[in-house]
Amino acid sequence: MSLFNDIMRFDILTIFPFLFDSYLEESLIKKAREKGSIEVNVHDLRKWSVDKHGTVDDKPFGGGSGMVMRVEPIYRAVCELKEDFLKKYKNDAPSSRVILFTPRGKRFNQKKADDFTNYKQMIIICGRYEGVDERVAKYIADERISIGNYVLMGGELPAMVVLETVSRLVPGVVGKESFLKERRKEGGFVEYPQYTRPENVTISGKKRRVPGVLLSGDHKRIEEWRKEKKRIIN
Ligand code: ADE
Repeated sequence: MSLFNDIMRFDILTIFPFLFDSYLEESLIKKAREKGSIEVNVHDLRKWSVDKHGTVDDKPFGGGSGMVMRVEPIYRAVCELKEDFLKKYKNDAPSSRVILFTPRGKRFNQKKADDFTNYKQMIIICGRYEGVDERVAKYIADERISIGNYVLMGGELPAMVVLETVSRLVPGVVGKESFLKERRKEGGFVEYPQYTRPENVTISGKKRRVPGVLLSGDHKRIEEWRKEKKRIIN
């Protein structure tokens, strides 16, 4: 796990850049960007297309339905984004990671999110259509990532999932820095049940109370209760 001093930069390549607009303009992600803890650039892949019509897809070799995303726009975009990042760091070569979202990728988890904090630039390729030319996975991306065993329409939601999971590990993005220290344990992230006011509430005709220990003020007992109820996410 790195505690990076430099800003972490995310470059997202998509053919639907507007999908990210409201997401990036709300809540902690917005604040993190404003504070300069993270930098998020959403790029329209069509900018690197091979013709003036902005084409980024074509028919699959071997036949079949649907279209496949072409390799050249993605290659051009990744080269340019890496170069742009390197320029800013001059000789002090930063580390970039290129990931391709596909349901055929390795399953994303908390441990992977931790690993990603070791990079200073993440170039995220959002696949669409029936797939992406396999040469992207083989020769351009460092790894293929799936967020679950189901097929989405594209990599945009996975990109938001990874961006959010990694960003919240950046010191200062989620509340106080002590929060991360407290909750990162045993090789994962500690989650336990939380309650807030009111102490009693009626749900479907039954009184549902907050566990008494949480109202006791006894920090040792509260800690023990949380330990007992915890789940380590890794
Ligand atoms: N693209 C389509 N489905 C996906 C998934 N489950 N994970 C990542 N990318 C995807």
